[in-house]
Amino acid sequence: MKIKIRKIGFVAALTLFGAALLSTRYYMVDLPIWHFFGGGEGPDPSTLHLRGEFVESNLGAAEGPAGSLTVRMIAQQFVFVPQCVVVPAGVPITFRITSADVVHRLSFMGTNYGLSAVPGVVTEASFTFPKPGQFKIPCHEFCGAGHYAMRGQLNVVSRDQFASLRPGERRTCEQP
Ligand code: CUA
Repeated sequence: MKIKIRKIGFVAALTLFGAALLSTRYYMVDLPIWHFFGGGEGPDPSTLHLRGEFVESNLGAAEGPAGSLTVRMIAQQFVFVPQCVVVPAGVPITFRITSADVVHRLSFMGTNYGLSAVPGVVTEASFTFPKPGQFKIPCHEFCGAGHYAMRGQLNVVSRDQFASLRPGERRTCEQP
């Protein structure tokens, strides 16, 4: 009987240890497992900046077919790339974000909009900002030592003003 209890204790300890490992090593453990079981459609966090959808020239706000607007961003310890994005007011904006390292969470201060940035996964959500304004984007998921300083910005401008901006001016807060 004693041996049996010991055995159960050992198994429980092992399970706990495994769960703890999984929860802290998302990038090292969960992600390869996820990829192994066919979830590997997402971008490779280690080559995000080099190829595919999230190369630097493709980040920020981009117009697609039929006037649709997509914003692509990377979250990484401890910045958002681009640090500031400019979008037009009153238009649905599709955000596509991913992470280069650990899980981050963007929230648009003053709204209840938010979305998670997960390594190896593209998170997509569509939000409309009715009026021009400036929204801070603090990170809401503890992601390491620099978490509390991790924030980006979204500048919502009028549609006319947005139309007059060159692509480079749509991913910076320093307007001419
Ligand atoms: Cu990124 Cu907290």
